[in-house]
Amino acid sequence: MTSPSRTSLADEVTGLLGRPAPRPGLPWTVAKYAQTLDGRIATVSGDSQWISSPEERRFTHAVRAHCDGILVGIGTVLADDPHLTVREVPGRSPVRAILDSALRTPVTARVLDTAAPTVILTTENASVRRGHALREAGAQVIRVACDRDGRTDLETGLRALRAHGLESLMVEGGTAVLTALLRSRFVDRVVVSLAPIIMGKGLEAVGDLGVRRLSDALRLTDLSTVRMGPDLVWAGTPDHPRPA
Ligand SMILES: NC(=O)c1ccc[n+]([C@@H]2O[C@H](COP(=O)([O-])OP(=O)(O)OC[C@H]3O[C@@H](n4cnc5c(N)ncnc54)[C@H](OP(=O)(O)O)[C@@H]3O)[C@@H](O)[C@H]2O)c1
Repeated sequence: MTSPSRTSLADEVTGLLGRPAPRPGLPWTVAKYAQTLDGRIATVSGDSQWISSPEERRFTHAVRAHCDGILVGIGTVLADDPHLTVREVPGRSPVRAILDSALRTPVTARVLDTAAPTVILTTENASVRRGHALREAGAQVIRVACDRDGRTDLETGLRALRAHGLESLMVEGGTAVLTALLRSRFVDRVVVSLAPIIMGKGLEAVGDLGVRRLSDALRLTDLSTVRMGPDLVWAGTPDHPRPA
């Protein structure tokens, strides 16, 4: 296993992600996160910058450049105020999407700058006034159905992104969104970067998937690995059946 040079990074990403298998009406979805050896993506206080090395973060930017869209939850926007653009490698920034049922995205959030389009996936129940304010701040606000917890329904949200022209989507976290997507089986490829850090107590990468027997755990097939500086990147395809 070798660390790829800067020039081969895009090829390395293509090799790790594999060939997208389109599903009608849904984007091809890659869950990508950086975790410690003990499976944490942030400390108990929400600090995650940075778990991975500069080499791995350049790789993350190359994955962003490979995808039409990037999706995070409002928890990540509030914790990290991320930009979600491609800066470390050449390439186009993806359309930025946020799952934000109650329109809590601050109008000053970095993700609303003009570097790339931003879509906020919210619910019919969210404030109309907040919707106007966020549109004025540069976002496109799309209202979709609620799930049974009153949150933005994942499937309708993903379908709205596909209808918006996004054929491929990278999901960068955090825990709640990764868990919801894996649990609903909307993930086509998982890319996990393992940093040589042991954190102990912290925010788990993935929460309850309803697995009670080991044989029900999500298993990855079609594996690829690559070293990025001190970090080891694993990519695999979940063996769960896709939703119809
Ligand atoms: N290491 C890494 O790679 C990495 C990457 C990203 C984030 N992080 C860390 O992850 C942490 C944030 O994770 P988090 O779990 O608190 O927040 P999150 O997953 O980013 O966002 C969760 C929020 O998204 C909203 N949401 C809307 N629809 C949803 C749906 N269908 N399913 C799930 N959520 C939905 C909910 O808020 P509403 O109900 O208000 O809509 C929910 O509370 C931060 O500390 C961040 O630093 C780490």
